[in-house]
Amino acid sequence: MRIGSMWGLAGPLICSIVALPTSAEEDGATIWGPDRASTVKAMKQVVRALGVRSCLYCHVKSEGRVDYKAETEHKEVARIMKRAFVDSLVARGDGELVLKEEGKTLRIRARHEPRGEDAGIYITMVEEPAGGEPGRTVESRVGLPGSGQLNCATCHAGSVHFLPQPGDE
Ligand code: HEC
Ligand code: HEC
Repeated sequence: MRIGSMWGLAGPLICSIVALPTSAEEDGATIWGPDRASTVKAMKQVVRALGVRSCLYCHVKSEGRVDYKAETEHKEVARIMKRAFVDSLVARGDGELVLKEEGKTLRIRARHEPRGEDAGIYITMVEEPAGGEPGRTVESRVGLPGSGQLNCATCHAGSVHFLPQPGDE
C-alpha cells in the first residue's frame, strides 16, 4: 500500500506525522478548509448538497450552543464520504466504503468514468440487513460535475438518500 511505503521512507518524519490531529487544530483547520471561515463556508455547501435542514444534522448542541467539535455518527459518515468519494474517487477511478447503521450494513461503491458516451459516476449500493436476511442491491448513475470539481452535491444533489428506495418505480 502506498501509505505503508510512505511510513517506511519517512522514518525521521514519523513524529510530526503522528502529531497531526484527526480533527480541527487551534488555527481552525479542518478537512473542509484551512481556517474557521473557509470551514463554515464549506459546511454551508454541505448542508445544501445534502438538503438537510440545519447544521444539527451532524452537530449537537450542548448548554444552548452548538458544539461543533463534538463527535457524532453523521460527522463520521461525512468524513468517510469525503475521503472515499470526494478526495480520491477521481484520482483513483473508484472508491468503496462501508457504513454500519440501524442494524444494517451498507456497502457503497462508486466508479468514475470520465470519458465517452458512458461518462458518469456509477454507484452500486448493497444493503445487508443484520441476521442474514437477503439484502438488496441498488445501482445508479449520476452525471459528471459540470464545474469539473466533484463534491457532495455531485451525487447527493439536494438529498441525503438519493438512490431509489424500495417501492419506487
Ligand atoms: C454532513 C455533516 C455536516 C453538516 C451538515 C455540518 N457539518 Fe460541520 N463538520 C462536519 C465534520 C465531519 C466536521 C469535522 C471536520 C474535521 O474533523 O476536520 C465538522 C466541523 C465543523 C467545524 C469545526 C469544528 C472544530 O473542530 O473546530 C465547524 C465550525 C462546523 N463544522 C460548522 C458547521 C456549520 C456552521 C454547519 C451548518 C451550516 C455545519 N457545520 C454542518 C460535518 C458536518
Ligand atoms: C460518489 C457519490 C457520493 C458522493 C460524492 C458523496 N456521497 Fe454521500 N452517499 C452516497 C450514497 C450512494 C449514499 C447512500 C444513499 C441512499 O441511501 O440513498 C450516501 C449517503 C450519505 C449519508 C447518509 C448515510 C446514512 O447514514 O444513511 C450522508 C450523511 C452522506 N452521504 C454525506 C456525504 C457528504 C458530506 C459528502 C461530501 C463530503 C458526500 N456524502 C458525498 C454517495 C455519495
